Amino acid sequence: MEKIVINGGKPLYGNIEVSGMKNAALPIIFANILVEDKCVIENVPNISDVSRALEILAAMGAHIRRLSKTVVEIDSTGIRMGKSPFELVRKMRGSYYIIGAELGRFGSSYVAYPGGCDFGVRPIDQHIKAFELLGTSLNIEGGYIDARTNGGLIGSQIFFDVVSVGATINAMIAAVRAKGMTVIENAAREPHVVDLANFLNTCGANITGAGTDVIKIKGVPKLHGCNYAIIPDMIEAGTFMLAAAATSGSLRINNVIPKHLESISAKLIEMGASVVEGDDFVIVSRNGPLNKVNIKTLPYPGFPTDMNPQICVLLCLAKGTSLLNEGVWDNRFRYVEELKRMGASIKVDGRTAIVDGETDFSGATVRAVDLRAGIAMVIAGLTARGVTEIEDIYHIERGYDNVVAKLQAVGADITKKTMPPMPKEELA
Ligand code: EPU
Repeated sequence: MEKIVINGGKPLYGNIEVSGMKNAALPIIFANILVEDKCVIENVPNISDVSRALEILAAMGAHIRRLSKTVVEIDSTGIRMGKSPFELVRKMRGSYYIIGAELGRFGSSYVAYPGGCDFGVRPIDQHIKAFELLGTSLNIEGGYIDARTNGGLIGSQIFFDVVSVGATINAMIAAVRAKGMTVIENAAREPHVVDLANFLNTCGANITGAGTDVIKIKGVPKLHGCNYAIIPDMIEAGTFMLAAAATSGSLRINNVIPKHLESISAKLIEMGASVVEGDDFVIVSRNGPLNKVNIKTLPYPGFPTDMNPQICVLLCLAKGTSLLNEGVWDNRFRYVEELKRMGASIKVDGRTAIVDGETDFSGATVRAVDLRAGIAMVIAGLTARGVTEIEDIYHIERGYDNVVAKLQAVGADITKKTMPPMPKEELA
């Protein structure tokens, strides 16, 4: 078991690089199943979710070569249907893209029911609705999803009841090689939806409208290999932006697309921090107090739900009481109990957190209850008096590339330590 140990109170200064986006890398990696050729993917983040996705593809019969730390070659020619390993698939949410990709390539799919971070019910009814409209019949039994078509998918009109990133991506993946035209309405507009469409189009797909709420996909019989670079991770970038402001430091955050960060920049400016945008960088600094603000998380281009725990830490530091309303997930506030251990004063009422400001965080032992909650503990630890120890950091490593070394390089006193195994009598 490993933990992160932070000796807080040191402002962050300097340059920090953002890696490729987790939530674009996962669909792009799984969409390789459709390609039946060799692709070279660049700007791949070095995170455990990506390693797991590549491991799943390899177990299915793909040839994977790491050409460098951030470049991976995937040859999906030899992939066989139904070979994704139950234990790996069940631990990761993004593995549901295997269903769309197997259906698109083989006309059937057999995959374990997906796992992922726990913040309330995470239904997949919209994915299932899309597959059914494309001509699939599905059965869920014994922890597996068994999906079949009568000779392949057929293009269709899909209107989603809720805006879902995963369902939009899965429908797009499935429809790329379907017969005829598919129109997805009420589609998610996230940058990673656009990135996947760009990757698939580079492989010969015919997708238009990604980034708007209507996506049109004209089915093509086959795709071909390509070279493709994944976009920078806007959530990692946003996390560093908030860490700079939280510690009263100044960071130049490189390898970003500033447009993707607009909702975060706007809130930081409203709170009194300074944000300077360049072509592919932002500089965030703070040298005065933070103002209270009210925030509602929403699908893109709204303020991202995946920044909810991190911005909550900043609200704890602001002057006055702020309201943080979660507009996407039912139960994203499990981290609040952990922040309270460090001195935060937060009340949760349904989907709203009422956050009292001017918290003087003090170091404590806390848990990373999920990925973004875990990184929020890191930000709180960086601002706290004394030592913060964060347990269950495997959550953080699912989505943050080398975060300890990146933060050390900008002045944080942060280390990763291996904990000795607990004596048997304490395990009872
Ligand atoms: N929803 C349904 N039915 C569905 C699918 C979703 O009702 O079939 C609901 C969900 O319950 C939720 C809302 O729609 O209330 C949005 O869910 P969405 O499908 O957009 O989420 P997701 O695709 O499962 C991805 C990211 C999450 C991120 C959300 C929202 C991946 C692997 N995960 O999840 O990222 O929070 O979009 O932006 O791409 C993270 O990176 O920390 C993370 C959790």
